[in-house]
Amino acid sequence: MMSNKLKALACALSFTVAGLVHAADPVTIKFAHVVADNTPKGQGALLFKKLAEERLPGKVKVEVYPNSSLFGDGKEMEALLLGDVHMLAPSLAKFEHYAKAIQIYDLPFLFDDLAAADRFQSGPQGKALLRAMEDKNITGLAYRHNGMKQLSANKPLREPKDARGLKFRVQASAVLDEQFKAVRANPRKMSFAAVYQGLQTGVVNGTENTWSNYESQKVHEVQPYMTASDHGLIDYMVITNTKFWNGLPEDVRGELETIMEEVTAEVNRQADDLNQQARQAIVASGKTEIIELSPEQRAKWREAMQPVWKKFEGDIGAELIKAAQAANRS
Ligand code: LMR
Repeated sequence: MMSNKLKALACALSFTVAGLVHAADPVTIKFAHVVADNTPKGQGALLFKKLAEERLPGKVKVEVYPNSSLFGDGKEMEALLLGDVHMLAPSLAKFEHYAKAIQIYDLPFLFDDLAAADRFQSGPQGKALLRAMEDKNITGLAYRHNGMKQLSANKPLREPKDARGLKFRVQASAVLDEQFKAVRANPRKMSFAAVYQGLQTGVVNGTENTWSNYESQKVHEVQPYMTASDHGLIDYMVITNTKFWNGLPEDVRGELETIMEEVTAEVNRQADDLNQQARQAIVASGKTEIIELSPEQRAKWREAMQPVWKKFEGDIGAELIKAAQAANRS
């Protein structure tokens, strides 16, 4: 018979051992996203895994799930809040239910180029948006570039009137919905994973995305025309579950934040190259004609889409829009 003292000791020991085993377990970070590995976001996720596991050996393990293989659009935010996944990098178009101001990034023709987006994102207003969802338990850790959006369709799009009546796949964004309505086209919200099939079967006739997303999803196989329109931005916010993040040991969190910054700098340095390479690959495939716009033609698209800004000014805030425009002039 074990004495009570012995029992207490055994019990205390088993807790200590369990505690030690627990402390020695690496934190597993599941990082899910919807695009391919060979895209700016895919490369960033893999680099984050590499550096985190190199610099925090035995403390952190990162599992990357590309191509909607763990969670896709529509499910991933809920999964983050439930703790089933710990990091995501949704496109900035996918936050409207969590912080209306983030809709700013979808305004057509807002930023002249990625450098302007960079200036805004690293300024005070851009940084504040990273924290705009903390009341909903979502922390923004960093912005990441993909690139400027291009139009694609089953017919040549040179002027807004060419888009009239066509069905366009859009991300789940009210702004993007309005953008296509502004040119009298019919937007249809679809998950990224459904884009290729949607275009192939004619559920939609066109879409908008970056060169790297087009090429890695083989969109050029099912879209005979693309227009180099640079009419908007596809960038990302790397997000985590606030409670999860704050619950990490301080040294681990600090190192992960440093790594996050390094990865962001590297992704942003390479993003444009990756998109240009993807564009070249699309040209080389010979399957798609890429249409260049004259300055006059591009101005027509800008003018046709401009009313969208006014529609969302109330949700986004006029001051914020001004700050973003100012980034073009810096
Ligand atoms: C899309 O849904 O079109 C893209 O934003 C996907 C992505 O994450 O780049």
